[in-house]
Amino acid sequence: MCGIMGYTGGGAAAKIVYDGLKRLEYRGYDSAGISVLCGNEIKTVKRLGRVSALGGLLGKMHGGTGIGHTRWATHGKPSDENAHPHNAGVFSIVHNGIIENYSQLKAEYFSDENFLSDTDSEVIAKLLDKFYDGDLTSALARVCGLLRGSYAIAVMCAKSDGFAVAKRGSSVVIGYGENENFAASDLPALAGLCKNVAVLNDGDIALLTANGVAIFDENLQGVIREIVPNPATPADLELNGNPHYMLKEIREVPAAIERTRLSYAYVESSVKKAMEGVDRVIITGCGTAYNSGLAAKRYIESFARIPAEAEIAGEFRYKNPVITPNTAVIAVSQSGETADTVEAAELALSLGAKVIAVTNSPYSRLTRCADVVVPVEAGCEICVAATKSYSGQVTALYMIARTLAGSSVQSSAEIIAPFPALCAQITESEDIDGLADMCARSYGTYFLGRDIDYAVAQEGSLKLKEISYVPSEGYPAGELKHGTLALIDIRTVSVFIITGKSLAGKCANAVEQVLSRKGKAAVITNVAEVAERFKGRAYVVEIPSCDEWLSPLVSSVVLQLLAYKTALLLDRDPDKPRNLAKSVTVE
Ligand code: F6R
Repeated sequence: MCGIMGYTGGGAAAKIVYDGLKRLEYRGYDSAGISVLCGNEIKTVKRLGRVSALGGLLGKMHGGTGIGHTRWATHGKPSDENAHPHNAGVFSIVHNGIIENYSQLKAEYFSDENFLSDTDSEVIAKLLDKFYDGDLTSALARVCGLLRGSYAIAVMCAKSDGFAVAKRGSSVVIGYGENENFAASDLPALAGLCKNVAVLNDGDIALLTANGVAIFDENLQGVIREIVPNPATPADLELNGNPHYMLKEIREVPAAIERTRLSYAYVESSVKKAMEGVDRVIITGCGTAYNSGLAAKRYIESFARIPAEAEIAGEFRYKNPVITPNTAVIAVSQSGETADTVEAAELALSLGAKVIAVTNSPYSRLTRCADVVVPVEAGCEICVAATKSYSGQVTALYMIARTLAGSSVQSSAEIIAPFPALCAQITESEDIDGLADMCARSYGTYFLGRDIDYAVAQEGSLKLKEISYVPSEGYPAGELKHGTLALIDIRTVSVFIITGKSLAGKCANAVEQVLSRKGKAAVITNVAEVAERFKGRAYVVEIPSCDEWLSPLVSSVVLQLLAYKTALLLDRDPDKPRNLAKSVTVE
């Protein structure tokens, strides 16, 4: 959700920042800009469009210190003027987050002044210029004291060496190089650039020069933050011959499941301890992470017979939730930075719940607040749409549910063991081109299933709508006749997921109801009788038979590929869907 990048050292700042922004583009891609300190003058370029729009404009920007931004608009439409950096006097700033009191600050300090943009961010540059008395750090601390909301800010001053960063809410990682230093919103920007990194805490301000990094708390007292080896590698950013990150990442589903299943053994005892005496579990997250929580609810209730609810984090945090000392909250987030999910976890902690984070990001905000962290080992996910991280989340949540039920980690790991190979079989062989064509031509596509298949239906629907823009809904198959059936006609496609034998017959009834209203239907199934029954009448995709509870690992891959292929047929960019960004760090 907006990416910021800063560099100071002996290299060409413009090029280094530009390359870093390209790697952060999954966080927003409606406009971009870069400022470079050229002697004691700041030069800025910014443009509507993707980072590549800056490529031809950097020729005259010679200097060893620069900051840059790739934007996902919150305040002010995507435009050249609203693109960052924003400049005032000797300052240039980039900002990720939302300044909630920007209009009050404008009215209080600048009622007579014109602003060049409609953003909430420009006021930061103006305030710095107003309060600057020769010391960048103290001006920045004073400005941060006035800001309400969330921010990761990088600031360059024409009168100082290097640049400064400040953060609250939004994340900032510092990269330590040799005679050069970096700051970025996320680790992929720093892959291959530096060996060590440190994550800033809320309220921190850091001053970076070529020779070192000084970190202060909000009272400008020097603080030390843990420096760890940089986990991001250039290999994470390779496409490895794939045309898109989405396809690459779907093909990495087997590895995500395998690594997550094996790594759970290291945290099992902490999960057990945290869950002692728990009599209610709430699983919370947003989007795909919430959808994996739908599967987890079924696991926990069925295996451990403990009441469980899946709650959308943005709802949970504002509903005055009922939490007792015996409630456990499982917060699920690929990025570990999603504002709603982190705030929901913090609220649950403050109300006395035990909080378990299930995340793909080991140094994220979520990991720093949770009691226990269960790693999702999906590896760096760059495509905006979540794929392999969903598989990793379902794997981790399944193992947590089995721990709650008293099963051994070995037995859970053994049940999951065949799944990487089953998923690899799907990614390499499943033929769903015809179904993708049906979806691409459809007026609306419905994803339907019962029980655990319903959880997957929700995820299939989200994936299709977000990258192909085909209107879509996920629905419990039994509910079809209570309303949604009214929408079914020859222009619609209903995709049924039928993996459980016990409810297969009931779900087949719903397929018949669609067909008899002339709706087009597809059936994704591992139940032989169901496949046989609908061959010739519906588009049948047969998937391998497997443990019933873990069928989402297999069926979700078919649905991910379906979304991908539909998006390509409609000429959409599957990696960067319109209006979206990864890591939603604002409300
Ligand atoms: C869908 C998708 C989003 C995210 C959601 C939560 O493909 O990627 O719905 O799942 O924004 O993000 P995380 O998991 O980072 O908290």
